[in-house]
Amino acid sequence: MASSSPAVNRRLEGKVALITGGASGIGKRTAEIFAEQGAKVVIADIQDEVGHSVVESIGASTCFYVHCDVTDENQVKNAVDKTVETYGKLDIMFNNAGIGGPNNARIIDNDKADFERVLSVNVTGVFVGIKHAAQAMIPARTGSIISTSSVSSYVGGAASHAYTCAKHAVVGLTKNAAVELGQFGIRVNCLSPYGCATPLATQFIGCDDHVFENVMSGFANLKGVTFKTDDVANAALFFASDDSKYISGHNLLIDGGFSIVNPSFNMFQYSES
Ligand SMILES: NC(=O)c1ccc[n+]([C@@H]2O[C@H](COP(=O)([O-])OP(=O)(O)OC[C@H]3O[C@@H](n4cnc5c(N)ncnc54)[C@H](O)[C@@H]3O)[C@@H](O)[C@H]2O)c1
Repeated sequence: MASSSPAVNRRLEGKVALITGGASGIGKRTAEIFAEQGAKVVIADIQDEVGHSVVESIGASTCFYVHCDVTDENQVKNAVDKTVETYGKLDIMFNNAGIGGPNNARIIDNDKADFERVLSVNVTGVFVGIKHAAQAMIPARTGSIISTSSVSSYVGGAASHAYTCAKHAVVGLTKNAAVELGQFGIRVNCLSPYGCATPLATQFIGCDDHVFENVMSGFANLKGVTFKTDDVANAALFFASDDSKYISGHNLLIDGGFSIVNPSFNMFQYSES
């Protein structure tokens, strides 16, 4: 995908970004938008074939793929090192890789091993991502670290126990890292999206994109608009760019107000149009 934006207006001109889980869904769309906005982008994922095809569509002159399982600290360190070796620095780290885990509603049917697997990818993966990004950013005294949490960091009952627990933990990690790394000029924030049609989400529910979007629109607070990966990618762009240069430690809910309303006690529900 050739970039068409004039260089002068691009919000990430000269920046270098590493995106875990960049081969699919939110990460893939963010990689495309970051590249359009002038960034060099490194896609780190375990899906090698699709990862390489994303690089091909963005353009190999501004993007490369590195195999990286975020549950293996050495692979995360290697991804950061390769980014710095190739592009000379790391400005933006997007810890976005995640899994849904099994869709078992009842805690008594949940296996400890499944619970730990979700935490390993969705929390420990973010921890090592922040750690090795910080290692590269501290000498530069600047950087933006972004992680993908979820509306499940804010409300209960929207996902499994493991997933909800993991996404709450990402918010805690974001706040703590933001406090520690502020002294080095490094900002740390996270994004909390509502449900959007990606392989993770549709496989968790067991439906196609169209059905998923219809179900999510039904539960949504904000009507007349379908939530897309673009909406999350654009929020990531905000945290990645200098537009958010004084924002750190924030959990940005991208949910059209879903998490602030109790639909069973809402005086506006039946108001006339
Ligand atoms: N789609 C939603 O509704 C939604 C809502 C809230 C939060 N999220 C979060 O968004 C993030 C991205 O998910 P998505 O919805 O785009 O799903 P997705 O399945 O399209 O993308 C997830 C990517 O992470 C990669 N990945 C999984 N395990 C990995 C590992 N161990 N190491 C490296 N990469 C790994 C996958 O290969 C995939 O490319 C996740 O953290 C997810 O929890 C998604």
